[in-house]
Amino acid sequence: MDEELKKKALKKCYFIRPDLVMPGIMEKNNILTNVKNFQVRDDDVFLVTYPKAGTIWTCEILDAILNIDNLEVLKTRSIFEKIPMLELGPSIHPDLVADGVEGIPSNIKAILDPCPSPRRIPTHLLPEYCPDQLFTKKPKTVLVDRNPKDCLVSLFGWYASIRFLSPLEWNEMYEIYMNGLSEYGPYHSFIKSWAKYENEPWLLWMKYEDLRQNPKGSIKKITTFLGKNLTDSQIDDVMRVTSFDYMKKAMETVKGRDAYLNPKGVWQRKGVVGNWKNAFTIAQNEAFNKQYDEEMKGYEHLKYKF
Ligand code: A3P
Repeated sequence: MDEELKKKALKKCYFIRPDLVMPGIMEKNNILTNVKNFQVRDDDVFLVTYPKAGTIWTCEILDAILNIDNLEVLKTRSIFEKIPMLELGPSIHPDLVADGVEGIPSNIKAILDPCPSPRRIPTHLLPEYCPDQLFTKKPKTVLVDRNPKDCLVSLFGWYASIRFLSPLEWNEMYEIYMNGLSEYGPYHSFIKSWAKYENEPWLLWMKYEDLRQNPKGSIKKITTFLGKNLTDSQIDDVMRVTSFDYMKKAMETVKGRDAYLNPKGVWQRKGVVGNWKNAFTIAQNEAFNKQYDEEMKGYEHLKYKF
């Protein structure tokens, strides 16, 4: 890989181990150790996603289900409350709203401890970096999978949207990913690591594409998994406040938006399935498929049919 491009890729990232790159802000203040020792509550709800698999969408769905009697509360939350990634510092801290991502607090415990239950905690981490107690207390955990090509194209759009990242050319984004230098590592590492838990009763494995195709059925599935009993009209309410258009409009005026997104940046970019076809060249697609097929050997049932 071109050395200049490698430098560019690693500018905001760092190696956590030789084959795994993480966002640079996580290097600060023992964040990974704090995450590992994080005290999990039995009624926490974890959300596990590969970057760009629909994290904020699923966060809103979980929040709407958990706050069904007070949906108005969702409107008052800042962008940092909407996406408090465990490993990026629980972003509900007011300093973060004031200082942007550089102000990420180190002490996760001090911030998440006072939060009322049930807490909804998203992470992009591989299981080996997750809190130890996730695997002993086994709180309800939803994992959302998405076509890795769509994730990559979405990540490309993301680099142009976020204040603390710099835009890349599509070919650069593609090369960075194919060389294992995109944030959180390649998709196949994420899926293979989490596949160990695929059949655990505390983990619900969802797909972005199913949520898109059948939002009502998917929301019902999550509701049942969480042990909640929502009426049909309440499920409709969850669908309404988590629809692409509703969330896109809400994000335009969300508190803290400008600390996170560029003036033209968007979170609800396209929200469609198969958008990768507009970005990948034929040669890129072939090389991607080759790598994907090799890496996913033995995990055929979890593979996407492109
Ligand atoms: P695209 O860039 O393909 O549009 P994450 O929250 O993990 O960063 O994922 C972002 C992706 O989820 C973006 O995909 C975004 O448009 C999509 N998304 C966000 N809200 C959505 C919604 N309500 N419905 C469908 N897709 C949504």
